[in-house]
Formats: sequence, C-alpha cells, structure tokens
Amino acid sequence: MKQLTSSTKGVTTVKNFLTVLTAIALFGLVACEGPAGPAGKDGAAGAAGAAGAKGADAGFVYFEGFKADLKCAQCHSSNDNDTTYRVITKQTQYETSGHKELGNYDRNTTQCAGCHTNEGFYERTTRGVANETFTLNAISGPVTLQAYPNSSPVGCFTCHAPHKRGDFTYRDTVGQVKIFSLVAGNTTKTFTGNTGAQLCVKCHQPRMTSTFLIGTSNLSWQPSATSGLTDTAKIYTSRWNNHVSGEGIQTMLGFGGVEFAGNTYSSSYHSTALQNKTLECADCHMATPIGNKGGGHTFKVGYVPEGSTTTSYNFAGCNTTACHGTSGAITATSAKWATVRAEMTGKIRQLANMMLDSTVVGKWTLPKAGKFNPWITYSVNAGGDTIWAANANTGANVLQIKPAMKAGALWNLQMAMYEASHGIHNTAYTRSLLDASIAELKKP
Ligand code: HEC
Ligand code: HEC
Ligand code: HEC
Ligand code: HEC
Ligand code: HEC
Repeated sequence: MKQLTSSTKGVTTVKNFLTVLTAIALFGLVACEGPAGPAGKDGAAGAAGAAGAKGADAGFVYFEGFKADLKCAQCHSSNDNDTTYRVITKQTQYETSGHKELGNYDRNTTQCAGCHTNEGFYERTTRGVANETFTLNAISGPVTLQAYPNSSPVGCFTCHAPHKRGDFTYRDTVGQVKIFSLVAGNTTKTFTGNTGAQLCVKCHQPRMTSTFLIGTSNLSWQPSATSGLTDTAKIYTSRWNNHVSGEGIQTMLGFGGVEFAGNTYSSSYHSTALQNKTLECADCHMATPIGNKGGGHTFKVGYVPEGSTTTSYNFAGCNTTACHGTSGAITATSAKWATVRAEMTGKIRQLANMMLDSTVVGKWTLPKAGKFNPWITYSVNAGGDTIWAANANTGANVLQIKPAMKAGALWNLQMAMYEASHGIHNTAYTRSLLDASIAELKKP
C-alpha cells in the first residue's frame, strides 16, 4: 500500500473520485496502524481536497462538500498530532461527552431529530433556527420536515463545518434564539448570549413537540400562577415539564417557573453575564480539559476520577482571573459551591417530601388524601438518596389538584431538578422558586 512519503512540493488538488477514495483508505489504515509512519508525501499540510459545492469533484455528494484546496492532513494526521486544531484530542474528549455517551440519537422522528441527531440539526440550520416559531397546542418549534431513520449522534459536523470551511468555526452563527415558556401568561424570550452560547441553546431549550398540551384528548392543565380557586389541574402525563432540556436555559434567563404571587423573583450574576455576553456555556462546560474526564469537548463539569467512586468537579472555568480567580477560588468546599448546592438539593428534597405527604397536600388532591407524586421518575441526583418511582396514576388515572394553582409547586420542583446544576446556573432564581413553592404548600 502506498504510504505517504515526504515531499517539499506542497499541495496538489484532489480531482477525482479515485484519489479521494485512496485518501479515505489511507486514513483508515493510518488509524489502525499504531505509531505514526514517516512524514506525509505532501508534507505536514497533506493533499488538497476536491473543490466545489457538494463535493461534486469527488464524484459523490456530501451534506456540503469540501472547501477548495482543503489540506486533509491538516486535521487527519492520526497520532502525528496536528498542532493547529489538535483534532485527535478533541475526538478523544468527545467520546465521553453526553452527546455521544448517552445514546439517545435514536430519537430521530420529525419531532425529535432536530436536537437529538446530527442530520436533524443540519436540516434545522439550513432552514434557519431563527425562523422557528412556537404555537401553543401545536407541533411547532424545533421540528424537522423528515425523519432520519439512519441517524448519528450530535458530533463534530453538527457544531462545526470543517470540510466545507477548513476550520472549526461554528456551523450556525445565527444568534438570538427564542425561548418559549409553557406557563400561562409568559411571553417568549429572546436569548441574547454570544454565538457559542446560542449554539447550545438551539438544542438546550424546551421542546414544543409532544408536550402535554398537544393533541385532542387528555390535555393536561397549562401551568398558571393566576388560575382561579375553583379550577382543577388535571395532569395526565409524566412529561408535564420542559423535557429536561428547557429547564436549564429558562432558569438561566430567570423565567419559566410558576411564580406564585406575593414573592419576589430575582436572578444572579451568571444570568446577567450570559445575556450580556461576558459568560458563555463553554466557559464552565468546556474549561481546560482533564484528559477525557472533564472540561474541553467532554462538556462535563462533574466527573468521576479513575479509581474513585465520588464525583470531582472541574473548577478551571470558575477560577479564571475575570471570574472567581481573584476573589476566593471555587473549590469543592467553598461556600459558593458546597453551600449553594447543599441548600438547593436540601430544598428540592423538602419540597418533594411535602408533595409525597398526604397530610400536607391531601386536601388539594381529588379524590382527597392523595399525594402529588405523579411520575417523578428521576432521582434528585445530588446525594442520590431519593428516587420517586412512577406511581399508579397512569392510564385512565389522572392526578387532579384543586385549586389548580397549587400544581405549580410540582412544576417548580421539576424546574429545579432538571436544571441539573442545582443552583449554579442561577442561584437566586432557583432559590426564589423553591422558597415560594414551599411557602405555597405550607399555606392552609
Ligand atoms: C479542518 C479539519 C479537517 C480537514 C482539513 C479535513 N477533515 Fe475530514 N474530518 C474532520 C473531522 C473533525 C472529522 C470527524 C471526526 C470525528 O467524527 O471524530 C472528519 C471526518 C472525515 C471522514 C470520516 C472519517 C470516519 O471515520 O468517519 C473522512 C472520510 C474525511 N474526514 C475525509 C477528509 C478528506 C478526504 C479531507 C481532505 C480533502 C479532509 N477530510 C480534510 C476534519 C477535517
Ligand atoms: C444539536 C443539538 C445540541 C447542541 C448544539 C448542543 N447540545 Fe448538548 N445535548 C444535546 C442532546 C440531544 C443531549 C442529550 C443526549 C442524549 O441523551 O443522548 C445533550 C447533552 C448534553 C450534556 C449532558 C447532559 C447530561 O444529562 O449528562 C451536556 C453537559 C451538554 N449537552 C452541554 C452542551 C453545551 C455546553 C453545548 C454548547 C457548547 C451543547 N450541549 C450543544 C443536544 C445538543
Ligand atoms: C429542543 C430540542 C429537543 C427536542 C425537539 C427533543 N429533545 Fe430530547 N433532549 C434534548 C436535550 C438537550 C436533552 C438533554 C437534556 C439534559 O440532560 O440536560 C434531551 C434528553 C432526552 C432524553 C433523556 C432524558 C429523559 O427525559 O429521559 C430522552 C429520552 C429524550 N430527550 C427523548 C426525546 C424524544 C422522544 C423527543 C421527540 C418526541 C425529543 N427528545 C425531542 C433536546 C430535545
Ligand atoms: C455541541 C457542539 C460541539 C461539538 C459536537 C463539537 N464542538 Fe468543537 N467546539 C465547540 C465550541 C463551543 C468550541 C469553542 C470552545 C471554547 O470557546 O472554549 C469548540 C472549539 C473547537 C476547536 C477549537 C477551535 C479553534 O479554532 O481553536 C476545535 C479544533 C474543535 N472544536 C474540534 C471539534 C471536533 C474534532 C469535534 C468532534 C470530535 C467537535 N469539535 C465537536 C462546540 C462543539
Ligand atoms: C457558571 C458556570 C456555568 C455556566 C455558564 C453554564 N453551566 Fe451548565 N452547569 C454548570 C454546573 C456546575 C453544572 C453541574 C454539573 C455537575 O453536577 O456535574 C451544570 C450542569 C449542566 C447540565 C447538566 C449536565 C449534567 O452533567 O448533568 C447541562 C445540560 C448544562 N449545564 C447546560 C448548560 C448550557 C446549555 C449552558 C449555557 C446556556 C450552561 N450550562 C451554562 C455550570 C455552568
């Protein structure tokens, strides 16, 4: 097999199908070869790729083709690590990213593929994420026109377009993503963060599809802080929430909870900084990497070190000079971490336990003396001691709460649980929602 041999001639242009196939075959070989061989034929830069839209010169069609004069080996150099993009390091980190690891890219129907698959997100960006609109009670928002039965996980080509552009700029830089809320009376907000943060919230946002409000029968109650005392909340689904993907960004924007009257709702500096572009998701989630365990393209803050069973946290992003680096570093035991997380998880547990206590909430359930324990199937996952199993309220059964407004506490519990930073994203708003909900359930 032809090995890449050294040359000072510089680049040549890949003109045909065969050459590209050969190039691809070479990557395959190099990848399983072990130690890197001698320097490539065309030097460090490698051969240039086929020019033209849709990879036409290569004889087959890609999503978007290769940039003219693309130098393959600039990124594909296997163990002879490229020093511009260090692609192999990002690939290694990415293996442990939730995007790759959690495996839900089989959610590839028109209502799911837009966020769960590489293919679906590509379709959304070509049609313009900014053009997406939300209609309450209708399938709308981040939907795709087709299903993708052969789907791949969110990956390098979802967020970047390296073959088309020859670099790792963001695929989609259209900003100002709209974040809607299912709570009655709330208006859609526009997230004004920087392009990196916008990229994340194009998927990390509530989903409108297949919510409890869509369909012709068994429509669940729309959460509302102002419903009348005689209204009854009927909740038919365990998905009476923002799909785990929306609670985070809504919390960061300081809205989306059921805001009981008579309380104040405020936001912390993280919320302000995200919106005025001084902070972005990557600052905390893609901080200086720790191998493939945390930071960088693992997107993880929390990780379990080798040989340990307890979680450690990558605080590199917190402790930069612009942030906490100059005034009391964040550590596993510092107040701004340990105290905040303990307070929030404690309040989440307190609220959940009130809802599981018929002496507290029984007077509002129909039939009387029940509990607010509909289908909370996830653990608080912070201390890990409480898991609420799915209850018997399925099928024909329905959780009924009167006055309906009290069900807002259940909505807020899920806001705080699925906002999985446990108060770090926006301490003040999470605290406001939890305190107000606990107070509401303490009322006679
Ligand atoms: C700017 C960086 C960059 C350049 C230049 C580049 N690629 Fe890629 N390529 C990537 C990335 C990133 C991936 C995805 C790797 C992954 O998913 O882990 C990829 C994937 C591939 C794959 C799929 C590999 C697989 O195992 O799935 C092929 C084939 C490929 N590139 C061919 C080429 C060819 C041919 C050229 C030159 C004409 C080229 N690439 C130039 C970044 C680049
Ligand atoms: C194309 C859509 C998309 C984009 C863009 C995206 N994500 Fe995700 N993200 C997802 C999906 C879908 C999951 C869940 C994957 C699964 O369950 O298989 C996820 C999971 C995660 C997880 C793991 C969650 C867990 O429960 O462990 C983190 C952390 C994360 N994303 C952070 C980010 C950050 C930070 C950005 C921006 C730099 C980002 N994501 C951009 C779709 C996206
Ligand atoms: C608006 C983008 C978006 C859409 C549309 C979407 N998801 Fe998700 N989904 C996400 C993100 C992001 C996560 C990860 C959230 C996290 O861990 O913080 C996720 C998590 C999940 C999970 C794991 C958590 C859980 O709830 O068990 C499942 C399962 C899932 N989605 C299924 C679906 C299905 C089925 C559909 C279509 C009916 C769908 N999703 C549509 C963005 C979306
Ligand atoms: C969910 C979105 C997402 C995915 C998937 C993703 N990246 Fe990135 N990538 C980013 C973000 C955001 C940044 C900027 C990080 C920062 O500012 O610290 C980035 C930065 C980079 C950079 C540095 C850019 C530069 O010019 O220095 C490289 C290289 C890169 N990514 C390669 C990859 C590779 C290779 C993959 C696949 C293994 C990948 N990325 C997958 C979001 C993503
Ligand atoms: C100020 C730092 C910070 C910023 C900014 C930030 N996060 Fe987080 N985020 C965290 C921390 C800390 C956690 C909890 C991680 C843990 O417990 O492992 C977290 C948890 C998460 C999770 C759940 C991941 C998991 O492992 O369970 C997702 C998803 C997420 N954040 C998405 C985002 C998105 C999207 C943005 C930007 C819109 C963002 N975050 C901005 C600090 C931050």
